Amino acid sequence: MTDAIPTRRAPLRIAVLISGSGSNLQALIDRVADGFIPARIVLVISNRADAFGLERAQKAGIPTRVILHTPFPDRASFEQAMIDALLAAEVELVCLAGFMRVLTPLFIRTFAGRLLNIHPALLPAFPGLHVQQRAIDAGARFSGATVHFVTEEVDAGPIIAQAVVPILDGDDAPSLAARILKREHLIYPLAVKLYAEGRLRVAGQRVCVVDGESIDPEEYLISPAE
Ligand code: GRF
Repeated sequence: MTDAIPTRRAPLRIAVLISGSGSNLQALIDRVADGFIPARIVLVISNRADAFGLERAQKAGIPTRVILHTPFPDRASFEQAMIDALLAAEVELVCLAGFMRVLTPLFIRTFAGRLLNIHPALLPAFPGLHVQQRAIDAGARFSGATVHFVTEEVDAGPIIAQAVVPILDGDDAPSLAARILKREHLIYPLAVKLYAEGRLRVAGQRVCVVDGESIDPEEYLISPAE
């Protein structure tokens, strides 16, 4: 008798957490729709009622929840409300996409190894906020975007994918942010695809991609001056 090969009964169930425009959410929606990511986005949560990303989700027929942080007395009760919604929806992977609340260990431990974030800089350089302006002010010639597992230290988890973009003379924070965002829309779906396919192995800080096609660096990782 041979061992049965475990197969997934159903596509991976993803939730996306947003606070704003949701262009990364849109990229994930589009790449799920065209079959690149073998998964389903089953829930979008926003901590702001006016986040445009909510409209994007509704247009795609994805259930949405607005969970405002303001009525809660503390971070723990806000996060518990989100955890309850995510568990009720049987979410297996949580993607932060412009979600502008720092998460505490309560939330991060609940979804350890199942929580991704995208950051608009080449980590470990420029963690935190205002990173495009900080990269320009530092005189960096390149910046980029990073998709990483979320750990308890902010913007410091194991890196899954990065893209490099040049910083051009005359760039300001909005022009650099726009150039980086175009690459975010490529590498976030790539990272989620690899996760959904079970192809990521984490050893300490290093993430290895196993099996299947290798990643073409020309296609994903280096942006020409656009
Ligand atoms: C992106 O630049 C992302 O890297 C950062 O917040 C921004 C969100 O943009 N965390 P959008 O809402 O996905 O358009």
